[in-house]
Amino acid sequence: MAPMTTERPLSSAADDPRNSANDATRYPHIRSFVHRRSHITPSQQDAADRLLPIWGIAYQARLLNLDAAFNRHAPTILEIGFGMGETTARIAQSRPNENFLGVEVFNAGVGSLLKRIDEQQIQNIRIIQHDAVEVLRDMIAPDTLDGVHIYFPDPWPKTRHHKRRLIQPPFIGLLASRLKPGAYLHCATDWEHYAEQMLEVLSGEPTLQNTAKAYAPRPDYRPLTKFENRGLKLGHGVWDLIFKRK
Ligand SMILES: C[S@@+](CC[C@H](N)C(=O)[O-])C[C@H]1O[C@@H](n2cnc3c(N)ncnc32)[C@H](O)[C@@H]1O
Repeated sequence: MAPMTTERPLSSAADDPRNSANDATRYPHIRSFVHRRSHITPSQQDAADRLLPIWGIAYQARLLNLDAAFNRHAPTILEIGFGMGETTARIAQSRPNENFLGVEVFNAGVGSLLKRIDEQQIQNIRIIQHDAVEVLRDMIAPDTLDGVHIYFPDPWPKTRHHKRRLIQPPFIGLLASRLKPGAYLHCATDWEHYAEQMLEVLSGEPTLQNTAKAYAPRPDYRPLTKFENRGLKLGHGVWDLIFKRK
């Protein structure tokens, strides 16, 4: 295991002329999650206590040096809201030459992914337990990511809650600015209305280009999750969207 420090991988955002000082005011946001008292199992808690200091990176309002964070120079994929981390672990194992930076706010999920990292001896995942909007805004420099995965983000089905949905034009503008030219954004959802919103928002971002006519076929690297399999058996749809930064 490569021990992590929180100081070393960071450089000063203020030193980077591309990092606009008024980003915080340009990207005000309504949180896409609510803090809930979630059940965390003793083994997830134990994994969080032992392993977050090793594989975790603390949120700070300063740019993260990705090479130092992963102890190597490699393409980096950011995943927003990894849940229990099942998909994250499988993709990271199948793509060992890439770095995976997982961002999640949910304690049990962080504990669960840390357990998988430990049990499966995965080396290429780092975790930030914080709001992904602020992580992108404050810690990720423009033009740095090779890809972003957003799988089954909270659908917030009630109309009055749609404002909490993550995929909104200002956030996608911020996210697109953090992608390298040619890098990809891959979203998936099983809510048709949210899929339509995603298609509209991503198509409306001038720096992104759809890789498909509308929805994309599920690429082989994204495994079917248990919950998705169950939904498919019940006849529910799943929509993948893959856009590239121009
Ligand atoms: C419906 S779950 C999907 C989890 C996983 N991607 C999957 O496919 O099973 C959405 C997850 O996104 C997380 N989340 C929502 N908003 C977030 C944010 N702004 N930053 C980080 N995580 C967030 C939630 O805590 C939740 O675990």
